[in-house]
Amino acid sequence: MGYIRPSRQPHLPQQKIFSLKFTIFQSSSENTMVQIAVASASNVGMQVIEALLARKKHQIIVLYRSEIPAGSIQHPDLTYVKVNFQDKKQLTDALRGVHTMLSFIIAHKDPGSVSQKNLIDAAIEAGVKRFAPSEWGCSNPEGIPWYAEKVVIRKYLEEVNKEKKVIEYSLFQCGHFADYLAFPHRTAKQLLPLNMHYDFHNCRAIVVEGREHIDSISLITVFDLANVVAEAIEYEGEWPVQGGVLGTTVTPAQILELGEKIRDRPFTVEKVTLEDLETGVVETSWVPLMTHPAIPTDKVLPYSKSALQRTLIGMSKGAFTVGDGWNKLLPSYRFIPLEGFLYTVWAGESRKALSSTD
Ligand SMILES: NC(=O)c1ccc[n+]([C@@H]2O[C@H](COP(=O)([O-])OP(=O)(O)OC[C@H]3O[C@@H](n4cnc5c(N)ncnc54)[C@H](OP(=O)(O)O)[C@@H]3O)[C@@H](O)[C@H]2O)c1
Repeated sequence: MGYIRPSRQPHLPQQKIFSLKFTIFQSSSENTMVQIAVASASNVGMQVIEALLARKKHQIIVLYRSEIPAGSIQHPDLTYVKVNFQDKKQLTDALRGVHTMLSFIIAHKDPGSVSQKNLIDAAIEAGVKRFAPSEWGCSNPEGIPWYAEKVVIRKYLEEVNKEKKVIEYSLFQCGHFADYLAFPHRTAKQLLPLNMHYDFHNCRAIVVEGREHIDSISLITVFDLANVVAEAIEYEGEWPVQGGVLGTTVTPAQILELGEKIRDRPFTVEKVTLEDLETGVVETSWVPLMTHPAIPTDKVLPYSKSALQRTLIGMSKGAFTVGDGWNKLLPSYRFIPLEGFLYTVWAGESRKALSSTD
């Protein structure tokens, strides 16, 4: 199981695919198999599916709307069901017998959150017990336009449960993937590498002047997020609405310190001011390019500039700093330490680069 999707993979220079030797977390729980529906086969969703299949306990259906991506996971416990997300009756029929539904529909491509609202209505109608909306990132999307629909769904879930709880749900918020600090290398089978404004490959970073010790971001490997979701599926208590999954929270200064230690050389740091960012000025000599399948190629540069601006402003507001709701409920889960993860990725590379300049 588990393949790279060739049709959607951008070309990346000097990319290595890491087969990180972390142990799949085995649950002590002997729960019986549950039926899980995954709405939209995405990067992140496929990584969660891998963690669920590793449990050998669950039947999973993936609801998709257009094409099953080439090279998608094939497994006897996994079924792909093509649906029209506009058709509530069809969604309801597809969800009958499902215990838990996880959504990975990308928010900015679901205007008015029509697909996710239909999914929620259909899930309630079909008697689905639990739902995870397409969060999987920041805690506070305020001012981040491509996350605006996440807020719409938060409000919708509050609304449907206002009179009486009709569906249990949890907002799985995890901050940014630490895997992106490995760019251009790939650290997970299903997650496409993305560059960040902390660029370990080129030993450079962009920070907001004077806020290096103030701002913060939570970082987690997608491996840990996927395994915590698999644990949450088997959790017998009620799901917490505030479902923070906290790997670690760091300041820009701490990331830089870690980067210089791991890469064994100083980083070139460019500084921008919060005032400039707030008036839309992003004047840096480079921007991390957002080469993601959801972003059309001709929009990559303007989108990347906007992403940099919104991410830096967001970090100043704690938008990517998440709570630890699930950590508290799953105290025996051991997260991969950030430093160890990054050493695994970069140690050989740093030695290689050093010896070539010796
Ligand atoms: N924490 C992080 O660092 C991080 C990083 C990446 C993503 N995320 C989050 O993870 C989630 C999934 O992101 P991803 O990158 O894995 O997504 P992705 O690979 O781009 O896949 C998105 C899926 O949504 C489907 N979709 C798009 N618009 C839809 C609509 N209107 N109705 C129904 N389905 C629709 C797409 O189907 P088609 O192929 O048919 O268009 C595709 O299957 C998002 O909530 C995202 O914010 C978090």
